[in-house]
Amino acid sequence: MNKLIVSLLLTLGITGVGVAAEGPLKGDATAGQAKAAVCGACHGPDGNSPAPNFPKLAGQGERYLTKQMHDIKDGKRTVLEMTGMLTNLSDQDLADIATYFASQKGSVGAADPKLVARGEKLFRGGDLEKGLPSCIGCHSPNGAGIAAAGFPHLSGQHTAYIAKQLTDFRKEEAGRNNDDAAIMRTIARKLSDEDIAAVASYIQGLH
Ligand code: HEC
Ligand code: HEC
Repeated sequence: MNKLIVSLLLTLGITGVGVAAEGPLKGDATAGQAKAAVCGACHGPDGNSPAPNFPKLAGQGERYLTKQMHDIKDGKRTVLEMTGMLTNLSDQDLADIATYFASQKGSVGAADPKLVARGEKLFRGGDLEKGLPSCIGCHSPNGAGIAAAGFPHLSGQHTAYIAKQLTDFRKEEAGRNNDDAAIMRTIARKLSDEDIAAVASYIQGLH
């Protein structure tokens, strides 16, 4: 992990985030494309979902995708729309699907011009007064994320989906709590509704 990220984690009081030592299974994109056919109905055949509440998977990092699929399969992250869909997929199937979507090019949308300034300020600079780190340390300045560390690619993702995730991370109960060491829960709890609306809109247009 690079020094910037380590110091960010320390600033937030987060410890114990390790880079996984297990050697990940190697995926096969061609096999993954066939296995992902059923996913295309919601996520788009190439992972560029047309609907704002269905996340784009195209261009997302393999490690992040694999973790989310395992978490959804194991019930650590609740996605009602996907109930039972991953049950019969093996670790190799999930690795193949992750490799396929990671190899696709993610599309980019547009930000609301009225929200860009506030969104950009938060994304790039955080908010010193609230002890909020910038997002770029982990998600990178262009939103590409850090694939090897499992820090997700955000750029071009649907505003509605991003806003829902930040709101879910912020919830004390029945929210999203599958982030290791509560990294995103700690951050999201420092965001107001207005912050979330602005940064989520900014991300949709980021590239
Ligand atoms: C009926 C619609 C639907 C289908 C079909 C579907 N998904 Fe999903 N998926 C969703 C929704 C909705 C979410 C986000 C839920 C939320 O808001 O947290 C999601 C989230 C995900 C995520 C997490 C994305 C992220 O950025 O964190 C992954 C990975 C994923 N799905 C993979 C798959 C795979 C693989 C398949 C096929 C085996 C599949 N999905 C089929 C609706 C669907
Ligand atoms: C210290 C590192 C770090 C910082 C700083 C950080 N994030 Fe994250 N973020 C992560 C990690 C790690 C995950 C994946 C959590 C998981 O495994 O479920 C994540 C996940 C997310 C997700 C969910 C993505 C998806 O596809 O579902 C969103 C949205 C997000 N971050 C937005 C932000 C925003 C906005 C900021 C700045 C206000 C920010 N993050 C700052 C590490 C960070």
